[in-house]
Amino acid sequence: MFERPPTFYRPFLTGRYTVSAGLYRLGTQAVPWVGSEAGAVVETHTFALDREYPRFVASKAAAHRRALHEYAGEAALTPELREAALSFVARTLAEESGGVMAWDGRTFTNRALGWAADLALRWGGVEELRRFAAPLAPLVADVTPVNALDFLGLNAPEDLAIVARHPEGGDWVAALHVLSPQHWDPREKLGRDFVAVHEPVAGSGPMNATAPRLVDAVITRGPFVRFAWGVATRDRLDHHPAAPQRADRAPETRFDPDRAFLRVERQTLTGFPEAHGALFTIRPYTYPLRDAVADPAHARALAAALRTMTPEQVAYKGLVPLLPGLLTWLDGVT
Ligand code: HEM
Repeated sequence: MFERPPTFYRPFLTGRYTVSAGLYRLGTQAVPWVGSEAGAVVETHTFALDREYPRFVASKAAAHRRALHEYAGEAALTPELREAALSFVARTLAEESGGVMAWDGRTFTNRALGWAADLALRWGGVEELRRFAAPLAPLVADVTPVNALDFLGLNAPEDLAIVARHPEGGDWVAALHVLSPQHWDPREKLGRDFVAVHEPVAGSGPMNATAPRLVDAVITRGPFVRFAWGVATRDRLDHHPAAPQRADRAPETRFDPDRAFLRVERQTLTGFPEAHGALFTIRPYTYPLRDAVADPAHARALAAALRTMTPEQVAYKGLVPLLPGLLTWLDGVT
């Protein structure tokens, strides 16, 4: 099925933590810190299908069973934008799946999960769902997708967001299917504009001041890829504030190098100018911290990057109880 190991991304190799756009043009601009040798790689893909796939499906199925309505929804999504974004997802996911998934414009089939659905993308319906024997079918056996966005989102490791813009200006989050959120609640973001969505991010002022230009670039000039990163004490994918097991950010947690992870989010942005919107995908990666900084130069870069965070950013990233121990350990490793 999907045998590739997950790609290793080390965005901290810049030696700085920044709250900025950091957009790389997919297909033309090399991402500078991909792989063990930190090589520059021009990426073209939207969806990353690797051997972590079953872990994503299992986590998404658990979130779905627990409370799908806390993770997914729509806010004034137009039929045009729904159709543009969901056809892109169906087509691209199938193309990038190496033959495991197929899309013929009507039926989306996944030979790993053992299901096929007839989708009406303009209005968002799942018109028929058929199941068949397949290696990962048990993971979704008790999951019933509620609409086309839900079905497609369950087939992808990535979380999905659709951003819409009025032709006269003004943007909003028009749909979310975010089953692996990193300590944020999709219900608080749905229907909000770029600035409101990013307002809680410490140090987001300068980026937010350029919001109309950023949203315009995303809709009319992509596709782009960008990365976010942080250090966590769990490799759990679903950090919904309402989900159980929030121990990742328990105040009493101290740094332990054997229970620390680098969490990187690879995000892509694809615009649909005719439909006045864009698709935003989020794929988390969790690497044991020891693997992320096995090279002393990498440990030095991570320590340097962490030292550029303001106290507000340290707090925002949930690092207050961890940072002293983490920096001491990184300095020792180097
Ligand atoms: C041009 C496009 C975008 C840029 C440049 C951007 C940039 C950023 C940055 C720099 C952060 C802080 C990351 C950190 O933790 O270090 C962030 C956080 C976040 N972004 Fe974006 N973002 C973009 C689009 C979106 C979209 C379309 C959504 C839709 C839901 C979104 C949702 C979020 C959320 C929910 C957070 C965390 C906010 C919180 O803590 O409550 N972003 N973004």
